[in-house]
Amino acid sequence: MKVNFLDLKAQYASIKHEIDKAIQEVLDSCAFAAGPFVKSFEENFAKAHNAKYCVGVNSGTAALHAALMALEIKAGDEVIVPANTFFATPEAVSLAGATPVFVDCDPDYYNMDPAKIQAAITAKSRAIIVVHLYGQPAQMDKIKQIADDNNLLLIEDCAQAHLSQLNGQSVGTFGVCGCFSFYPGKNLGAYGEGGAVITNDEDLYKKLMMIRDHGMPRKYHHDIIGHNYRMEGMQGAILDVKLKHLEDWTERRRRNADLYRKCLGDIQDIQVPTEMPGAKHVYHLFVIRTSRRDELQQYLSDNQIYTGIHYPIPCHQQKAYESLGYKKGDFAVTDEYADQILSLPMSEQLKPEEIEYTCQKIRAFLT
Ligand SMILES: Cc1ncc(COP(=O)(O)O)c(C=O)c1O
Repeated sequence: MKVNFLDLKAQYASIKHEIDKAIQEVLDSCAFAAGPFVKSFEENFAKAHNAKYCVGVNSGTAALHAALMALEIKAGDEVIVPANTFFATPEAVSLAGATPVFVDCDPDYYNMDPAKIQAAITAKSRAIIVVHLYGQPAQMDKIKQIADDNNLLLIEDCAQAHLSQLNGQSVGTFGVCGCFSFYPGKNLGAYGEGGAVITNDEDLYKKLMMIRDHGMPRKYHHDIIGHNYRMEGMQGAILDVKLKHLEDWTERRRRNADLYRKCLGDIQDIQVPTEMPGAKHVYHLFVIRTSRRDELQQYLSDNQIYTGIHYPIPCHQQKAYESLGYKKGDFAVTDEYADQILSLPMSEQLKPEEIEYTCQKIRAFLT
């Protein structure tokens, strides 16, 4: 049996009729850049997260950068980010001209460790970007308290956490804004690139709307420096269709995670992910840890079971950040886990028999 890491073809086949119709409507109306399809999606996406406003943009990286621009983060500022995240989180800080300051992750949930934030705060700190990595919300109560106590802006990177909640509150609504990615492989993925910022702050919303469109409040009136970060009409229409399925898809991901846990929980050399109390984990990724990660990944690949590593080189060790002077070992948990983590196949299309087969192979290799 071949087990894909992610099966976007199967997902498209399951909603082809709706998607094809939506694409045809965009073609018929020629509303290609922002426009009514994007607006409809923005309203529905904001509602899905109990937020007042949503600004559709053309990637998760653009969402983060636009948010930092709108909040006037600039050269000389420091922004606290987790070491354990995708590179785009600190990259957006650098694009804004500011400096990312990394913080280690906690050993249980892989997200930014609140206990280690205080030591990273300096007189130059302006903001914290917290990431809800793999689909699990970070410890927002503690992190928000630290941000408030130190007068820091709190931005949420929700690129992997659509519809995730903590104690019934949606991610993206704890801080000043939440930034999402709709990269095709995400829980809610475009057929191309896409992103969004949600917020409850009307002024921030208005500024973000200008920034995504060359700083214009009105056509050809450029009040501030912005960017071309408009979401494409086609992506808005596609995302609006897919959003209707997202609750159901998320529940299927959560059931798949339960089955993995049931099948793998007793294997000694495997740590399965744990859900934080009060957290609704949406399992963008199902990440296990094992001391024999590389051998296991090769064995699974030889058996046509495809896995991933998120991420093999932590951000502070990337060549692009050499000049910041970090080294391997600076963040003990992140650095140790980078050699142990393995993302197993995960999507709403994954079938129970594929999970059981994957787990049988893992058990055969490790026990
Ligand atoms: C945590 C995180 N932040 C930001 C991004 C950037 O999103 P995009 O690829 O849409 O620019 C991603 C996407 O992979 C991500 O996983």
